[in-house]
Amino acid sequence: MNLILMGLPGAGKGTQAEKIVEKYNIPHISTGDMFRLAIKEGTELGKKAKEFMDQGALVPDEVTIGIVDERLRKDDCQNGFLLDGFPRTIAQAEALQTLLENRHEDIDYVLHVDVPEGNLVERLTGRRICPTCGATYHVMYNPPKVDGVCDKDGSSLIQREDDKAETVKTRLDVNIKQTKPLLDFYQEKGYLVTINGDQEINKVFQDIQAELEK
Ligand code: AP5
Ligand code: ZN
Repeated sequence: MNLILMGLPGAGKGTQAEKIVEKYNIPHISTGDMFRLAIKEGTELGKKAKEFMDQGALVPDEVTIGIVDERLRKDDCQNGFLLDGFPRTIAQAEALQTLLENRHEDIDYVLHVDVPEGNLVERLTGRRICPTCGATYHVMYNPPKVDGVCDKDGSSLIQREDDKAETVKTRLDVNIKQTKPLLDFYQEKGYLVTINGDQEINKVFQDIQAELEK
Protein backbone atom coordinates (compact mmCIF):
# COMPACT_ATOMS: atom_id res chain seq x y z
CA MET A 1 0.00 0.00 0.00
CA ASN A 2 1.43 3.39 -1.05
CA LEU A 3 0.17 6.09 1.30
CA ILE A 4 0.69 9.80 1.72
CA LEU A 5 -0.09 11.55 4.98
CA MET A 6 -0.84 15.25 4.66
CA GLY A 7 -1.74 17.87 7.21
CA LEU A 8 -0.57 21.17 8.62
CA PRO A 9 2.27 21.22 11.19
CA GLY A 10 0.92 19.71 14.39
CA ALA A 11 -2.08 18.02 12.74
CA GLY A 12 -0.86 14.65 14.04
CA LYS A 13 0.91 13.16 11.02
CA GLY A 14 3.82 11.78 13.03
CA THR A 15 1.51 10.47 15.75
CA GLN A 16 -0.71 8.62 13.29
CA ALA A 17 2.26 7.48 11.17
CA GLU A 18 3.67 5.54 14.15
CA LYS A 19 0.38 3.60 14.35
CA ILE A 20 -0.13 3.10 10.61
CA VAL A 21 3.33 1.66 9.94
CA GLU A 22 3.04 -0.70 12.88
CA LYS A 23 -0.34 -2.01 11.76
CA TYR A 24 0.32 -2.22 8.01
CA ASN A 25 4.01 -3.06 8.17
CA ILE A 26 5.26 -0.47 5.71
CA PRO A 27 8.23 1.91 6.16
CA HIS A 28 7.63 5.40 7.57
CA ILE A 29 9.29 7.97 5.34
CA SER A 30 9.22 11.37 6.99
CA THR A 31 11.22 14.07 5.23
CA GLY A 32 11.25 16.08 8.47
CA ASP A 33 12.75 13.10 10.36
CA MET A 34 15.31 12.55 7.60
CA PHE A 35 16.39 16.19 7.77
CA ARG A 36 16.58 16.12 11.58
CA LEU A 37 18.76 13.01 11.45
CA ALA A 38 21.06 14.66 8.91
CA ILE A 39 21.36 17.71 11.17
CA LYS A 40 22.21 15.51 14.16
CA GLU A 41 24.86 13.70 12.13
CA GLY A 42 26.28 17.00 10.84
CA THR A 43 26.17 15.99 7.14
CA GLU A 44 26.17 18.45 4.21
CA LEU A 45 22.46 17.75 3.74
CA GLY A 46 21.89 18.55 7.41
CA LYS A 47 23.75 21.86 7.17
CA LYS A 48 21.71 22.88 4.16
CA ALA A 49 18.35 21.81 5.66
CA LYS A 50 19.02 23.50 9.00
CA GLU A 51 19.20 26.98 7.44
CA PHE A 52 15.62 26.62 6.25
CA MET A 53 14.12 24.57 9.07
CA ASP A 54 15.30 26.91 11.82
CA GLN A 55 13.37 29.70 10.14
CA GLY A 56 10.26 27.61 9.60
CA ALA A 57 10.78 27.74 5.82
CA LEU A 58 10.58 24.82 3.38
CA VAL A 59 13.79 23.12 2.28
CA PRO A 60 14.25 23.66 -1.50
CA ASP A 61 12.38 21.21 -3.73
CA GLU A 62 15.43 19.77 -5.51
CA VAL A 63 17.03 18.78 -2.18
CA THR A 64 13.83 17.26 -0.81
CA ILE A 65 12.92 15.40 -4.00
CA GLY A 66 16.46 14.00 -4.15
CA ILE A 67 16.33 12.43 -0.69
CA VAL A 68 12.88 10.93 -1.29
CA ASP A 69 13.97 9.46 -4.62
CA GLU A 70 16.97 7.85 -2.93
CA ARG A 71 14.89 6.55 -0.02
CA LEU A 72 12.20 4.98 -2.23
CA ARG A 73 14.88 2.94 -4.02
CA LYS A 74 15.61 0.98 -0.84
CA ASP A 75 14.42 -2.62 -0.68
CA ASP A 76 11.99 -2.07 2.18
CA CYS A 77 9.79 0.09 -0.09
CA GLN A 78 8.91 -2.75 -2.45
CA ASN A 79 5.66 -3.57 -0.66
CA GLY A 80 4.57 -0.02 -0.08
CA PHE A 81 5.43 2.99 2.04
CA LEU A 82 3.98 5.81 4.07
CA LEU A 83 5.16 9.27 3.06
CA ASP A 84 4.78 11.78 5.91
CA GLY A 85 5.29 15.48 5.16
CA PHE A 86 6.07 14.88 1.48
CA PRO A 87 4.96 16.16 -0.98
CA ARG A 88 4.45 19.68 0.27
CA THR A 89 4.54 21.61 -3.00
CA ILE A 90 3.05 20.97 -6.45
CA ALA A 91 6.58 20.55 -7.84
CA GLN A 92 7.20 17.78 -5.26
CA ALA A 93 3.86 16.13 -6.08
CA GLU A 94 4.66 16.12 -9.79
CA ALA A 95 8.13 14.73 -9.17
CA LEU A 96 6.62 11.96 -7.03
CA GLN A 97 4.16 11.13 -9.79
CA THR A 98 7.06 10.69 -12.21
CA LEU A 99 9.06 8.60 -9.73
CA LEU A 100 6.11 6.28 -9.24
CA GLU A 101 5.30 6.04 -12.95
CA ASN A 102 8.88 4.94 -13.58
CA ARG A 103 8.31 2.16 -11.03
CA HIS A 104 4.93 1.25 -12.59
CA GLU A 105 3.27 2.11 -9.31
CA ASP A 106 0.60 4.47 -8.11
CA ILE A 107 -0.56 6.16 -4.93
CA ASP A 108 -3.37 4.33 -3.11
CA TYR A 109 -4.56 7.05 -0.74
CA VAL A 110 -3.67 10.57 0.27
CA LEU A 111 -4.86 10.89 3.87
CA HIS A 112 -5.42 14.49 4.86
CA VAL A 113 -5.49 14.87 8.64
CA ASP A 114 -7.62 17.97 9.01
CA VAL A 115 -7.43 20.08 12.20
CA PRO A 116 -8.71 23.66 12.66
CA GLU A 117 -5.78 26.06 12.37
CA GLY A 118 -6.57 27.59 15.77
CA ASN A 119 -5.61 24.35 17.60
CA LEU A 120 -2.20 23.94 16.06
CA VAL A 121 -0.09 26.43 18.00
CA GLU A 122 -0.99 24.72 21.27
CA ARG A 123 -0.28 21.28 19.82
CA LEU A 124 3.15 22.34 18.57
CA THR A 125 4.35 24.30 21.57
CA GLY A 126 3.20 21.49 23.92
CA ARG A 127 4.89 18.74 21.91
CA ARG A 128 7.83 16.85 23.40
CA ILE A 129 9.85 14.23 21.55
CA CYS A 130 12.20 11.43 22.48
CA PRO A 131 15.70 12.05 21.08
CA THR A 132 16.42 8.29 21.16
CA CYS A 133 13.40 6.60 19.56
CA GLY A 134 11.55 9.57 18.05
CA ALA A 135 8.30 8.94 19.96
CA THR A 136 6.02 11.97 20.17
CA TYR A 137 4.19 13.17 23.28
CA HIS A 138 2.17 16.19 24.31
CA VAL A 139 2.33 17.76 27.74
CA MET A 140 -1.48 17.82 27.95
CA TYR A 141 -2.98 15.57 25.28
CA ASN A 142 -0.55 12.67 25.26
CA PRO A 143 1.68 12.86 28.34
CA PRO A 144 4.25 10.16 29.13
CA LYS A 145 3.66 8.04 32.24
CA VAL A 146 6.47 9.85 34.06
CA ASP A 147 6.76 13.58 33.43
CA GLY A 148 9.50 14.37 30.85
CA VAL A 149 10.57 10.73 30.36
CA CYS A 150 10.00 8.46 27.32
CA ASP A 151 7.73 5.48 28.11
CA LYS A 152 9.64 3.24 25.72
CA ASP A 153 13.28 3.77 26.67
CA GLY A 154 13.50 6.14 29.66
CA SER A 155 15.23 8.96 27.72
CA SER A 156 14.64 12.57 28.74
CA LEU A 157 12.18 14.23 26.39
CA ILE A 158 13.13 17.40 24.50
CA GLN A 159 11.40 20.19 22.58
CA ARG A 160 12.05 20.49 18.83
CA GLU A 161 14.01 23.61 17.78
CA ASP A 162 11.23 24.66 15.40
CA ASP A 163 8.48 24.27 18.03
CA LYS A 164 9.41 27.53 19.73
CA ALA A 165 6.54 30.03 19.51
CA GLU A 166 8.30 32.44 17.04
CA THR A 167 9.06 29.72 14.48
CA VAL A 168 5.69 28.00 14.82
CA LYS A 169 3.90 31.04 13.39
CA THR A 170 6.09 31.13 10.25
CA ARG A 171 5.77 27.36 9.75
CA LEU A 172 2.01 27.57 9.90
CA ASP A 173 1.86 30.52 7.47
CA VAL A 174 4.18 28.82 4.97
CA ASN A 175 2.31 25.52 5.10
CA ILE A 176 -1.20 26.99 4.97
CA LYS A 177 -0.23 28.70 1.70
CA GLN A 178 1.21 25.51 0.17
CA THR A 179 -1.46 23.06 1.32
CA LYS A 180 -4.60 24.23 -0.50
CA PRO A 181 -3.24 23.79 -4.06
CA LEU A 182 -1.91 20.34 -3.09
CA LEU A 183 -5.27 19.25 -1.70
CA ASP A 184 -6.90 20.38 -4.96
CA PHE A 185 -4.25 18.50 -6.96
CA TYR A 186 -4.98 15.21 -5.18
CA GLN A 187 -8.73 15.79 -5.04
CA GLU A 188 -8.83 16.13 -8.82
CA LYS A 189 -6.90 12.90 -9.22
CA GLY A 190 -9.31 11.13 -6.87
CA TYR A 191 -6.78 10.10 -4.20
CA LEU A 192 -7.82 12.43 -1.41
CA VAL A 193 -9.45 11.19 1.80
CA THR A 194 -10.11 13.71 4.56
CA ILE A 195 -9.81 12.51 8.14
CA ASN A 196 -11.11 14.55 11.08
CA GLY A 197 -7.91 15.09 13.10
CA ASP A 198 -9.68 17.08 15.80
CA GLN A 199 -10.57 14.01 17.84
CA GLU A 200 -8.85 11.85 20.41
CA ILE A 201 -5.68 10.21 18.98
CA ASN A 202 -7.06 6.64 18.93
CA LYS A 203 -10.33 7.77 17.33
CA VAL A 204 -8.38 9.47 14.52
CA PHE A 205 -6.54 6.18 13.97
CA GLN A 206 -9.80 4.22 13.92
CA ASP A 207 -11.12 6.53 11.20
CA ILE A 208 -7.93 6.06 9.18
CA GLN A 209 -8.20 2.27 9.45
CA ALA A 210 -11.85 2.38 8.42
CA GLU A 211 -10.90 4.29 5.25
CA LEU A 212 -8.00 1.98 4.39
CA GLU A 213 -10.10 -1.13 4.89
CA LYS A 214 -13.18 0.04 3.00
P1 AP5 B 1 8.05 18.01 9.62
O1 AP5 B 1 8.89 17.25 10.55
O2 AP5 B 1 7.33 17.27 8.55
O3 AP5 B 1 7.06 18.86 10.49
P2 AP5 B 1 5.59 19.40 10.25
O4 AP5 B 1 4.91 19.15 8.98
O5 AP5 B 1 5.72 20.82 10.63
O6 AP5 B 1 4.76 18.50 11.11
P3 AP5 B 1 5.01 18.20 12.58
O7 AP5 B 1 6.00 17.09 12.74
O8 AP5 B 1 5.30 19.48 13.29
O9 AP5 B 1 3.56 17.78 13.04
P4 AP5 B 1 2.76 16.43 12.91
O10 AP5 B 1 1.62 16.63 12.01
O11 AP5 B 1 3.66 15.26 12.65
O12 AP5 B 1 2.18 16.36 14.39
P5 AP5 B 1 2.48 15.38 15.61
O13 AP5 B 1 1.97 14.02 15.33
O14 AP5 B 1 3.91 15.50 16.06
O15 AP5 B 1 8.89 19.15 8.92
C1 AP5 B 1 9.76 19.98 9.64
C2 AP5 B 1 10.50 20.91 8.70
O16 AP5 B 1 11.29 20.14 7.77
C3 AP5 B 1 9.62 21.79 7.80
O17 AP5 B 1 9.24 22.97 8.45
C4 AP5 B 1 10.56 22.04 6.62
O18 AP5 B 1 11.51 23.01 6.91
C5 AP5 B 1 11.27 20.71 6.46
N1 AP5 B 1 10.56 19.80 5.56
C6 AP5 B 1 9.99 18.59 5.87
N2 AP5 B 1 9.41 18.04 4.78
C7 AP5 B 1 9.60 18.92 3.76
C8 AP5 B 1 9.20 18.94 2.39
N3 AP5 B 1 8.49 17.92 1.86
N4 AP5 B 1 9.56 20.00 1.63
C9 AP5 B 1 10.29 21.00 2.15
N5 AP5 B 1 10.69 21.08 3.43
C10 AP5 B 1 10.34 20.04 4.24
O19 AP5 B 1 1.52 16.06 16.69
C11 AP5 B 1 1.75 17.36 17.20
C12 AP5 B 1 1.46 17.39 18.71
O20 AP5 B 1 0.06 17.21 18.93
C13 AP5 B 1 2.16 16.27 19.48
O21 AP5 B 1 2.54 16.75 20.73
C14 AP5 B 1 1.06 15.18 19.64
O22 AP5 B 1 1.23 14.40 20.81
C15 AP5 B 1 -0.21 16.02 19.69
N6 AP5 B 1 -1.34 15.36 19.05
C16 AP5 B 1 -1.32 14.57 17.94
N7 AP5 B 1 -2.57 14.15 17.63
C17 AP5 B 1 -3.39 14.70 18.55
C18 AP5 B 1 -4.82 14.63 18.77
N8 AP5 B 1 -5.62 13.92 17.96
N9 AP5 B 1 -5.33 15.31 19.83
C19 AP5 B 1 -4.53 16.03 20.67
N10 AP5 B 1 -3.17 16.12 20.50
C20 AP5 B 1 -2.60 15.47 19.46
ZN1 ZN C 1 12.04 6.96 23.36
